[in-house]
Amino acid sequence: MKILEERIRQEGLILSDTVLKVDSFLNHQVDTQLVLQIGEEFGRIFGHQPVTKVLTVEASGIQFAMATGIALGVPFVYAKKKKAVTQSEEVYSAPVHSFTRHEDYQISISQKYLGPDDKVLIVDDFLATGAALVGLADIVNASGAELLGVGCVIEKSFQEGRSLLEERGIAVHSLARISSMSPGEIHFINHHTE
Ligand code: G4P
Ligand code: NA
Ligand code: NA
Repeated sequence: MKILEERIRQEGLILSDTVLKVDSFLNHQVDTQLVLQIGEEFGRIFGHQPVTKVLTVEASGIQFAMATGIALGVPFVYAKKKKAVTQSEEVYSAPVHSFTRHEDYQISISQKYLGPDDKVLIVDDFLATGAALVGLADIVNASGAELLGVGCVIEKSFQEGRSLLEERGIAVHSLARISSMSPGEIHFINHHTE
């Protein structure tokens, strides 16, 4: 998505070879028009499939799931995060290892809002290690719903998230795919400029 790549080039702060900050337009302050355009783009990519529900994880996936839900005319549900506790019977939950915080946490979704009749599109802001998305995919499987695909706004292709998901047979579409970066330099796969 060309306008997204341009914004990342203009405003993205590359803190290291692995961490990109997009706090000025996506992750802290949010450019609402851009987020709606991102939702429309996911709508174009996945709209030919019979999606019934968009799923994400709180917090920074929520605005993209909402925009995608608007574009597809379906609700979105966000998994809640909490410290690992005993599993309640009314929720589907999965453990997630956070590589940035070096701890495990649990994501959960009420069984009321996901079930065998659902056809699910997962949306998130970053595809990095893929840990949270794999957990979400496990929840979808546990519910009996069908997972149609995963849409990510920014993929760091040099991390293992995409291959983890593809190993499970999950179709992954990312709107900006970063092949490599370092402070002052960023490279995209399928770049549209130059
Ligand atoms: P993940 O790939 O499964 O998300 O796990 P990872 O442990 O790699 O990432 C931890 C958190 O950091 C995730 O947010 C993820 O979206 C975010 N993240 C990963 N790489 C980057 C990056 O380059 N830049 C930014 N800004 N964020 C990144 P989270 O813990 O789920 O928290 P939340 O922000 O969604 O609340
Ligand atoms: Na996230
Ligand atoms: Na995040």
